[in-house]
Parts: sequence; C-alpha cells; structure tokens
Amino acid sequence: MTNKYAVVLAAGQGTRMKSKLYKVLHPVCGKPMVQHVVDQLKELQLNELITIVGFGAEKVQDQLGEDSHYVVQEEQLGTGHAVLQADHILAGKKGTTVVACGDTPLLTKDTLKKMMDHHESTQAKATILTAHAENPHGYGRVIRGGNGQVERIVEQKDASLDEQAVQEINTGTYCFDNEFLFEALKGVSNDNSQGEYYLPDVIQILQDKDETVSAYQTPEFSESLGVNDRVALAQAEKLMKQHINERHMRNGVTVVDPDHTYIGPDVKIGQDVIVYPGSVIEGNTAIEDDAVIGPHSTVKDCYIGEDTVVKQSVATNSHIGARVNIGPFAHIRPESSLGDDVKVGNFVEIKKAIFGKGSKASHLSYIGDAEVGSGVNIGCGTITVNYDGQHKFMTTIEDDAFIGCNSNLIAPVTVGKGAYVAAGSTINEDVPAEALSIARSRQTNKEGYVSKLNSNKKE
Ligand code: UD1
Ligand code: CA
Repeated sequence: MTNKYAVVLAAGQGTRMKSKLYKVLHPVCGKPMVQHVVDQLKELQLNELITIVGFGAEKVQDQLGEDSHYVVQEEQLGTGHAVLQADHILAGKKGTTVVACGDTPLLTKDTLKKMMDHHESTQAKATILTAHAENPHGYGRVIRGGNGQVERIVEQKDASLDEQAVQEINTGTYCFDNEFLFEALKGVSNDNSQGEYYLPDVIQILQDKDETVSAYQTPEFSESLGVNDRVALAQAEKLMKQHINERHMRNGVTVVDPDHTYIGPDVKIGQDVIVYPGSVIEGNTAIEDDAVIGPHSTVKDCYIGEDTVVKQSVATNSHIGARVNIGPFAHIRPESSLGDDVKVGNFVEIKKAIFGKGSKASHLSYIGDAEVGSGVNIGCGTITVNYDGQHKFMTTIEDDAFIGCNSNLIAPVTVGKGAYVAAGSTINEDVPAEALSIARSRQTNKEGYVSKLNSNKKE
C-alpha cells in the first residue's frame, strides 16, 4: 500500500475577511472551516497530516488539537512556500501527498477519494482537482494545451484577458507524488505580480520535465468554493446548510422550512423527528426518534431522547431524556441532566443540575447546582440560592418532595424525601423526609382597619 500524507494550508491571515478572527477559524454551520477540511481528510486513512500554521497559529492548533501535526510558516510568502515548510518531515518519503487549503470547507471525502483514484490510475506525478465555475473570478485558471493536457495554472492577477475567460478553475486541492513535489518546490520562484511562491507553479515545472500531470474535474463546483471574504462565507454557509438539511430529510427527518433551519455537520438525528423553523442545532448533538425541535430552539452539544419536545428554548451541553417537555422559553445550561418524563416550562433556568424522572418545574424557576430526585414538583417562582458572592453551594431535593410556590432554598440545603415546603418559604435548614416546613412570617389581619382610617380622615 502507498503511504498517504496530507498538507493543509492554514497560515494566511485572510486579509479580505477584514476580521480579528483568522480566516480558517471562521465557522461554517457552526464548525471552523479548517476543521471541516481536516475532518474530511482524516477519512482517507493518512499516515500523516500536517497543518501549516502562521497567523493565529496557537488558536488553529487549539482548534485542531491532536488531529494534526503542525509546522509554522513564519512569513506568508505564498502557498508553495507554505508547503515547503513541511520539507523536513516529508521530503524524500515515498507516497502520495494531498494538499488542501483551510478555506475550502465544502470539500468532501468522496471527491478527495475520486481525485486520488484518478491520480493513481493515470500514474501522474501531480493531479489537480479542478471545477467549472460560472464566475471564475479570483481563482487560478487551468490552462490546457491543444491536446487537452494540463500545462499550467495562472492566477487571476497574472492572467491575460484570454486566460481570464477560462472557466476551469484550480480548486486549490491537489495530489502529488511526494518525492516529486518537494523536488519541484525547490524550483518555484516568486516572479509574479504578487511576489509570492505559488504552489500551482509546480505543475508547470513537472510538465517541463515531461512528467505526467493530470486533472480531475469535479462536477460539483460548490465543493470547491474558496472562502476569501464574507460574501463567500455566506455562500458556503448556505450551500452546506442545504446539503446537511437534505441529508437529514432523506434519512426521515421532517425539516419544515430548510431555508430557516441550521444544523451542524456532526449532528445526528433519528427518524420522524420534526425540526421547526428558526432552530439552530450544533456541535455533538444527537436527537432520538420522534423528538420535536423548535420553532426557534437552539441546541448545542446535547443528547435528546425519544419523543422529547424542545420548543422556543435554549439547551447546551446537557443530557435530556425521553418524553421530556421543554419550553417555551426555557434555558437548559451546561452540565445538566434531565431524566425521562421531566417537564421544564416557561421561564425556567436549569444550570448544572440533575433532574430525576418525572420531576416538574413548570414556571419561572432557577434551579442551579442542584440534585433533584424523581417525582419532585417545583412550584412557580422557586429559586435555589446557590451563590453567596464567593462560592457556589448545592441544593438537594429528594424524591417526591413538593416545593411550594415562590420558595427560596438557600444552599447548601437538603429537602428530604416526600417533604413539603410551604409556599413563600425561605429555607436555610434541612427539611426532614415527610415533614412540612413553613418558613415565612405569620399573617396578621387587622379587622375594620380601613373604615377606621376613613373616619379619621373625615374629622
Ligand atoms: C489559491 C490558489 C488558486 C486557487 C484558489 C482556490 C495559489 C497561488 N493560488 O488562491 O490557484 O484557485 O486557492 O481557492 O495557490 N496560505 C498559507 N501560507 C501562505 C499563503 C497562503 O498557508 O503563505 C494558505 C491560506 O491560509 C489559505 C490557502 O493557503 O488557507 C490559500 O491561500 P489564499 O491566499 O486564500 O489563495 P487564493 O488566492 O485563494
Ligand atoms: Ca483562498
């Protein structure tokens, strides 16, 4: 088996984005562009993946983590110079090297595989992934000779008018014979309008040496979209969103209005789930069969069980069981775990809390740093008072307890199994199991007070 390597170019600043965020870290469907590229490349069973970093090197490394090795390109002297930075790791090794840019987020593993197969079957030393563009402006153009053979690539800024009319573009993705690549890179100069060392010049160098250079044209232009500015970023978002939504619909998910539904690339959704408009589902979220999400719900990094409804609500990094009813207007904050059959109603905030099976907080509550057993009823307006200004404390509410409306539970505190807390109580001591706790001032009625007041006024 041939060794396979990949080099991802991600050192540029992305001037045209006009952004504090480095270009390749701009998210498309909730995931940074360079992560999309690396995730697809990883599917090729590579021996080694190297990312060339420069601007924002640390942030790019934080994002990709263990997925890649890194080489720093101190000065951004062009894409050819960028690849050459991997010389000390790759030069002289036998095998095939894929080069891809960190700003082409729509590239898929299937297309990469087809390009590699083509590369192998034509026994080329270099294969360019090309595409037909309706509007090729800004891309390198593929210049072919009379026999259809690829001769070279010319950049937008160096192209003659005739060359600018060419609609076959370089997608910025290539396959190379690794040894030939690093040999040829030594011959690349910066004698062009941008004064940069262009990677595509390798094509002409190999061509001049009579080595086989080939091109694989993908029928999907959209896959090759290179994101250089925010207009292209929005196009990428739209295209990817469409691909993702269509995939889920084909798998048996009802996406009521795909134009207004935003699902991340790694989200898993079961059969007969309904997603209503205005919903954003991101990160590592998994949704089981028959759940209903939206309208207008934001769900990130959550597990959502069967038949659960999340209506006009926000849930982050939490585990939500089956047949749970959330919303409208609920907020499930990170590290929460809701058991099956739970109900979390309007204006309820749950933070870092466990909620046992069948427990309910139907209205206007804050439950933070808490462990709530099963079958608990939390009355309207209940607050776990978890913070003294310096430290956070735990509230424990055991199975089948009943918390009356408008109660404050000052943590650390435990309400025992089956206990009752009377409405309007401020509880700062543990409540034993099965007890009724009343912690509020007594009511005094002054009979006839108002008529006395009125007769005093008349005198
Ligand atoms: C490049 C190609 C062009 C192709 C297009 C496809 C060159 C010279 N041109 O143009 O033929 O049609 O991609 O999208 O290669 N980078 C570095 N170090 C550098 C320069 C760039 O790491 O010194 C990285 C950038 O971060 C980026 C990628 O390489 O991820 C491509 O660079 P970019 O400046 O976007 O090239 P394009 O002008 O789009
Ligand atoms: Ca680009």
